[in-house]
Amino acid sequence: MIRLGLIGLGQRLAHMVTCFQASDPSLRVVGVVDPDRAGALSRLPESERSSVRFFDTLEELLREARPDALAIGTRCNLHAPVATAAASSGLPLFLEKPVAISLSQARALEHTFARSRSQVVVSFPLRVSHLCRMAKTRIEAGEIGRLEHVLGVNYVPYGNVYFDSWYRDYQITQGLFLQKATHDFDYLSCLAGAPIVRVAAMAQQGRVFRDRSQEPAEGDDSRAYFENIGRPETGMNEDASSALLEFANGIHGVYTQIFYSKHEAQARGATLSGLRGTLRFDWYQNELRLHSHAEAKTLVDHPPEGLNHFGGDGVLADNFIDVIRGRAPSASPLSAGLQSVYACLAARESAATGRFVTVQPLTDLAPAPLPSHPHAVPSPNLTLAGAPV
Ligand SMILES: NC(=O)c1ccc[n+]([C@@H]2O[C@H](COP(=O)([O-])OP(=O)(O)OC[C@H]3O[C@@H](n4cnc5c(N)ncnc54)[C@H](O)[C@@H]3O)[C@@H](O)[C@H]2O)c1
Repeated sequence: MIRLGLIGLGQRLAHMVTCFQASDPSLRVVGVVDPDRAGALSRLPESERSSVRFFDTLEELLREARPDALAIGTRCNLHAPVATAAASSGLPLFLEKPVAISLSQARALEHTFARSRSQVVVSFPLRVSHLCRMAKTRIEAGEIGRLEHVLGVNYVPYGNVYFDSWYRDYQITQGLFLQKATHDFDYLSCLAGAPIVRVAAMAQQGRVFRDRSQEPAEGDDSRAYFENIGRPETGMNEDASSALLEFANGIHGVYTQIFYSKHEAQARGATLSGLRGTLRFDWYQNELRLHSHAEAKTLVDHPPEGLNHFGGDGVLADNFIDVIRGRAPSASPLSAGLQSVYACLAARESAATGRFVTVQPLTDLAPAPLPSHPHAVPSPNLTLAGAPV
């Protein structure tokens, strides 16, 4: 039996608990810290509700419930402080993204975990998804020649969630590079085979998504009005943002994310180019295309259909169980979470200042090893409607 403790049992962690249990049915939730006890209880699987215990603090949970591992699913601003407090336990940790929302949080996390035995699995499903692994395998096999350029796109069809739910609170998210692009910078770095070292970025705020209270006279159909979403001057999530990326191995790339796309305009994926070929994949299409440059020939490949978060959540859950049982290292280590956060912070700074910004390097932790993707079979067909990745 695996005894799991949870800190912040919201929508995301409730879903991940079902993934953990699909991977290891012996897993039990033995303790929860969440100020919204009633809500947290209602989100737990029925089978856990009668036996679970709630605690006021992490220290109490550790002392009374004696967990084998912890999972942290609070909102973004608390990930780093809670993880930093959990590090001395030495327990395996599943940590939601972004792993930090400021440079000081990220540095504290890095410093603390350089001295901790805890292995961390950062909740980055895209890096371990089928499509990303298929693309990586083909790149490593030399099918496009040496990789020279990456283009990442994210036309988000559920962008309203960043303006009509708790995500609208800029104090909690610190913007959509940290909230959203953290996934994409991470998987692009995995595919590029090197961390991002320099960023130039732009962000548009307040052109499309507008705060209704500041504009009583509606009627402009180029705008979408929401309550309490802030203003560009005081900080708010962006309508769209883009970044020019330089990787440590000399590859460069572009990433763009758009939050007012809808329905079939949705797209998320990458185009990877080398001298010999171009490889394109899209998670919504669930398809990878390899275009040869030598002849007019395209190979089309498809991973299995119907996987939650494109299969990545199941693989992450399997990997977390393997880490707890000492069978495998983390497939999504803290160093990867931090490298992504440092790139997101550079993007945010560049968008604010109009300058190229050098990405902070890791100082205490060793860089993330290039992922050797786990070969676990993802847990099938778990669905969570409207869940932002
Ligand atoms: N990796 C992914 O693909 C993915 C997908 C969705 C969400 N997320 C991330 O998951 C996190 C949670 O998102 P959510 O939609 O579940 O939010 P949520 O609001 O449903 O859950 C947050 C939970 O934390 C609890 N909480 C608040 N303060 C707390 C405290 N001091 N200590 C302990 N618990 C506390 C809340 O009561 C709530 O139950 C976000 O940071 C989000 O970025 C990641």
